[in-house]
Amino acid sequence: MRRPIIAGNWKMNNTKAQTYALLNDLVPLVADAEAEVVICVPYTSIWAAGEAIKGTNIHLGAENVHWAEKGAFTGEISADMLLEQGVEYVIIGHSERRQYFGETDETVNKRVLTALAKGLKPIICVGETLEEREGGKVEEVLVRQTTEALKGVDKDQLDKIVIAYEPVWAIGTGKTATAQDANDTIAIIRNTIAKLYCPKCAEEKVRIQYGGSMNPKNAKELMAMPQIDGGLIGGASLKAVDFSQVVKYNG
Ligand code: 13P
Repeated sequence: MRRPIIAGNWKMNNTKAQTYALLNDLVPLVADAEAEVVICVPYTSIWAAGEAIKGTNIHLGAENVHWAEKGAFTGEISADMLLEQGVEYVIIGHSERRQYFGETDETVNKRVLTALAKGLKPIICVGETLEEREGGKVEEVLVRQTTEALKGVDKDQLDKIVIAYEPVWAIGTGKTATAQDANDTIAIIRNTIAKLYCPKCAEEKVRIQYGGSMNPKNAKELMAMPQIDGGLIGGASLKAVDFSQVVKYNG
């Protein structure tokens, strides 16, 4: 059984004070959640978030990690720095990084390998743009992104990996993929993992989330689909009540 995993991606939102306020509200609201709950926060909020969720069922995540151990990489952050703050999950290859900050399949792969080697659990983002969708390239793009991201990853590391399918056209736009479409597209990703490793590995080890305008209204329908194991939530993760309702999608 793949345990559902709902993760918030705060992106570039929330100061330290706002982090405490949001999490103080969120902690009691999700205390009895069945799903695994993760919050991925900006670097400057990691320490505060770690304090606010200490001893709770909420897991801590970051939004990126560099592949090098340390060194002259101004503005980057290392796995050791994150681990020292209690970080467990890390988002890698978000489409906003790919779109605005030059992230490529190759750098995604390097970050994934370092994260795993260090004991961080990567949430690897894949997804097609509107242009790619309209050009009939969804499968090609997802097979490529998934295959490249997992290069050099061992079969026995697969249960540490979460993949987030985030169609770029659905992020922050209010447009959601239909539940059926998200399900069928995620099946392409799972099938790719089955071919790269084994059908049982894809079926049992890798959790695949949907992301893109997921909110309290559509979460239940999306989560009812057999291929969808969770969500990566942007906007709706910035409000404690909304996020808790996504986390407890079954009502
Ligand atoms: P929204 O939920 O705001 O569409 O963002 C999705 C996302 O990019 C999560 O990583």
